[in-house]
Amino acid sequence: MTPRHALVREPGNQYTSCLSEHPLHHTVSLKGAREQHQKYRETLAELGLEVIMVPRDDKHPDSCFVEDNAVVENGKALICRMAKESRRGEQPGVAATLEEYMPIKWAEEPATIEGGDVVHAEGKLISGISDRTNYEGVAQLQEWLEVPVATIFDPTIMHLKSYVTYLGKGIMIATEKYANHPALEGYNILIPPAEEGYAADTLAVGDTVLMAEGYTTAQTMVKEAGFDVISLNVSEIQKCDGALTCLSVLW
Ligand code: GLY
Repeated sequence: MTPRHALVREPGNQYTSCLSEHPLHHTVSLKGAREQHQKYRETLAELGLEVIMVPRDDKHPDSCFVEDNAVVENGKALICRMAKESRRGEQPGVAATLEEYMPIKWAEEPATIEGGDVVHAEGKLISGISDRTNYEGVAQLQEWLEVPVATIFDPTIMHLKSYVTYLGKGIMIATEKYANHPALEGYNILIPPAEEGYAADTLAVGDTVLMAEGYTTAQTMVKEAGFDVISLNVSEIQKCDGALTCLSVLW
């Protein structure tokens, strides 16, 4: 189903202190990130989405990565319990805004769960069991949102959606490592070349797919699969180990 709302929050003043293992983290520009975020918001608005801005959070460096704060499905939201201490406290702003639109429930200890692990795949979710999300988190997700959740276990990764996203029409894009995982059985899988793995984090809005700029082979694959592609520069987001999906919660 094509989403109609996008919840976003612009990068806060502490953004350059984000959690990141990216080799160019030290060069990240807050000004550049804000410009890229503005372009992202404009693009979503041009695609017909109502863009809902959560008030800026200058206390938490990773607060623009709202995707991790909540998972929305079936007209309800689970507010996530972040795995990283530095990210706890990001959620109240997102929860307060979502509550204006739908019932919410907070994930509870011992759950940890972050929306960056949760792929929405038409009537079902596929979640990473990762460095950030545990089985209890998935159990609470499944129970509150009343949706089946398949899992992919890989505690070496931060978030599954850095490697697997759903495009629509039964088609996924996934890096080689996950392409044959049983949780993805039944979907057509596009596998980008290894050097274009970052391009697997895509944001689909109907038949249009937002993709990171510079990954031309992956973009050609998505176009040939029948989608329109919009390419966005997210260099300053990537330096904080973020990607296109991380910047919004869609419903
Ligand atoms: N910088 C995104 C995260 O580590 O959660």
